[in-house]
Amino acid sequence: MDKFLIKGGKILKGQVAISGAKNSALPIMAASLLTAEPLHVHNIPKVRDLVTMSKLLTFMHVHVSVKEFPSSDYILQATKLNDEVAPYELVKTMRASILTLGPLIARVGVARVSLPGGCAIGARPVDLHLTALEKMGAEVETKAGYIEAKVPNHGRLKGAHIVFDKITVTGTENILMAAALADGESILENAAREPEVTDLVIMLRKMGAQITGDGTSVLKIKGVKELHGTDHTVIPDRIETGTFLVAGAITGGDLTITNCAPDHQGAIIAKLNEAGVPVEVVNDTTLHVSGAKKLIASDMTTEEYPGFATDMQAQYMALATQAQGSSIITETIFENRFLHASEMLRMGANIAIDNRRAVVRGPAKLTGTTVQASDLRASAGLVLAALVAQGETIIDRVYHIDRGYELIVEKLQDVGADIERFHDPSSSAA
Ligand code: EPZ
Repeated sequence: MDKFLIKGGKILKGQVAISGAKNSALPIMAASLLTAEPLHVHNIPKVRDLVTMSKLLTFMHVHVSVKEFPSSDYILQATKLNDEVAPYELVKTMRASILTLGPLIARVGVARVSLPGGCAIGARPVDLHLTALEKMGAEVETKAGYIEAKVPNHGRLKGAHIVFDKITVTGTENILMAAALADGESILENAAREPEVTDLVIMLRKMGAQITGDGTSVLKIKGVKELHGTDHTVIPDRIETGTFLVAGAITGGDLTITNCAPDHQGAIIAKLNEAGVPVEVVNDTTLHVSGAKKLIASDMTTEEYPGFATDMQAQYMALATQAQGSSIITETIFENRFLHASEMLRMGANIAIDNRRAVVRGPAKLTGTTVQASDLRASAGLVLAALVAQGETIIDRVYHIDRGYELIVEKLQDVGADIERFHDPSSSAA
């Protein structure tokens, strides 16, 4: 199993280019199921989740062609689909596999996908995806760990008025894709407003979908009979951008972050500014961050977009360990997303957890030790903590970080971090 060895104390300086957004590329690739024509997608990050999505789509008979593999340019073509069950072996490694459900049932009237199951950060049910599909006329059964959905009499889904009980990102994306090919109009209320949802809408529109309201919580979709192929470039990854902003801030560095979308970073920039970190919007694709004269504690609550992203909570916690005073971090999206805190404690952080609230008292002198990554963003938080820890930190289970950060080791090395990946044959993957 691969591990990272990080020697803390280096000041990060230089330029780093941001990759495409994993959470945009996932639904965009799944949207290839909606048409028989080819979809050309660019700026796909070379990360493990996208390789998993390609395998899943290939299993469904989508022809995925790339110059090399993994690649940032894909051509996906779903001329004819098979109706076999999306296997648990593949689905269990990536919850976003659920994104195939909406497009499959919309295009062929039947879909069988394994239930994704819980994960380290919470139970993460998909009930809202399923009830919305039922409202659109699908018959949905969950049997022996599988979701079986079909439209009676080989018909088409019908447009419906759906009010999500809770804001759900992949739920909104799944139902958007289903509604794009349904008969009649659908209205999605309390829809997610994440930039990744908007990116999907923009691409669906290029495919011929009739959708309005993107960027707001009410999406209106007039179903069309057919969608066609198109060409699309995935937006920059706002979580990778935020992670490098914190890397610059926490090491007292000086980083220029290119190929990013400053417009999507509002909540993170505002929070970093409150903590005393100067972040400058250089132009519409570039940010600049430098170290604070003094890091100041600042409370933070995770929220749906445009609020502070739960996917940046672990990274913010790493920063809070170095800030002067107490920061109260409240996690409102997932019920179990503080697993990184116990590892930071082992590095010497002062963090008290009470249910969904963490009180971080700083500044703490962190010391390198061996820590375990528990999920993708927790791993990023641990990397950031290790960058300022005294001595050597070994991060175990970095396969989590490989799911969503392209070339994280190389990008950090390029700006001066002392980090390397090594293979430890004595430990096997969990
Ligand atoms: C998306 O997950 C992201 N994944 C997550 O990224 C991100 O953390 C999350 O949104 C929140 O921003 C992708 O885009 C592929 P939700 P998703 O449905 O869509 C509850 C990362 O590190 N809920 O918006 O699965 C749910 O349990 C990650 O890249 C229901 O109760 O999240 C959670 O508490 C991990 N029933 C809340 O809603 C449902 O049917 C929000 O979840 C659906 C969700």
